[in-house]
Amino acid sequence: MFGSCKIACAKNAYLPILAGAILCDGKVTLKNYPNFLDIINMTNILENLGAKAKIQDKNLVLDMTSLNNYEIPHELATLTRSSIFSLGAILGRFKKARVAYPGGCEIGSRPIDLHLKGLEALNIKVLDRRGFITCDGENMRGGVVNLDFPSVGATENIMMAGATAKGVTKIINSAKEPEIVDLQNFLNSAGAKISGAGTSVITIQGVPKLNSVEYLPISDRIITGTYLLACAICGGEIELHNANIGHLDSLISKLSGNNCRFWNKKGRIIMQSGKKHKSISKIETMPYPGFPTDLQPQIVAMLSTAKGTSLVVENLFETRYKYVNELSKMGADIMIKDRSAIIRGVPKLFGASVNSTDLRGGVGLVLAGLMADGFTTVGNIQQIDRGYAHIENDLSKLGAEIKRIHF
Ligand code: EPZ
Repeated sequence: MFGSCKIACAKNAYLPILAGAILCDGKVTLKNYPNFLDIINMTNILENLGAKAKIQDKNLVLDMTSLNNYEIPHELATLTRSSIFSLGAILGRFKKARVAYPGGCEIGSRPIDLHLKGLEALNIKVLDRRGFITCDGENMRGGVVNLDFPSVGATENIMMAGATAKGVTKIINSAKEPEIVDLQNFLNSAGAKISGAGTSVITIQGVPKLNSVEYLPISDRIITGTYLLACAICGGEIELHNANIGHLDSLISKLSGNNCRFWNKKGRIIMQSGKKHKSISKIETMPYPGFPTDLQPQIVAMLSTAKGTSLVVENLFETRYKYVNELSKMGADIMIKDRSAIIRGVPKLFGASVNSTDLRGGVGLVLAGLMADGFTTVGNIQQIDRGYAHIENDLSKLGAEIKRIHF
């Protein structure tokens, strides 16, 4: 694999920032709009609330002055997980909200109890009935939220509910992902007063309203990590532009010294890799800065032909191994026991017809296909389109032999 490509803006930064735009009573311009399905669906949700949206020179320009609806119907809410963390922003704008249960990847039960408990701590009345969450925020005010788990979505929801609530909100045990820091920076650029994002305590001083803002979200660390693993799987040398190596310490530490070398130059990552790698004794997915669960299928694909036996433990989502059955069709030797995958390296994989089970699982199958002997067809790729804008174009620029076929 030899080549270079530019990394798009982060799906998991853009989605909460789009929700945050609901709080802004003015014009919101978000730069480098990535054409991912999840982001298009979230933009449609904003239009359903009364926003006016248009693409201008690759930027998304939103007129948020005429919002007139505080409900997200079932048919829109189920399209993406990010509908649930629009709750906090809709409440911040309207002091009431009615949102159907969210969608998102089927990688676990994905409860929303931490979101709802967090909103209740801000004196919001929450009714969870018949697949809808109905909230009354007439008397909402700042409060202290102790998260039982550093949930990314719950942290974002509470940040946005607190942004225009009277008084101070404190989130303890908050998620520390770079996308949380990006949301804080976006909201503060629009006039919010938030501090502590990136640490386990976030403080939000409520302000009357948020205003017009122009913002460029961070680049997508999961897409970056995906392409670094593609290079590890195929061997070769790649250069990724608009890539932040600082967001991938856990992945780099797992690959460095295992026939992979990295250089970081002003927002560019250069990687050199051999084709063969040693097994990795143990990888556990953890909240940031631990190893990201969103790179789990991709590194399992790489380890399926590493020399020796590797262990991967998935601590965040209880059914994030659905893609393994498909990988086994290609000759991988992987045993799943509870949350652990025991991967016995095989000399090579064989091309096969497989199906994407979810966004990152589908990408893991594509990466496996890049190194397999013969052709691999990956079906149900609209799953992959949710988080990559035509992955085949990027991978072709990096030297892969891949194309999209329409049946
Ligand atoms: C976000 O999902 C990301 N999605 C996911 O990316 C990512 O895998 C996940 O964070 C973890 O990093 C977006 O940002 C749109 P969580 P989210 O709340 O917010 C439990 C991708 O592929 N939990 O941090 O849903 C939950 O069951 C997607 O881009 C509760 O118990 O993740 C899980 O075990 C997949 N109760 C853990 O927390 C709750 O109320 C992490 O979930 C909420 C979560």
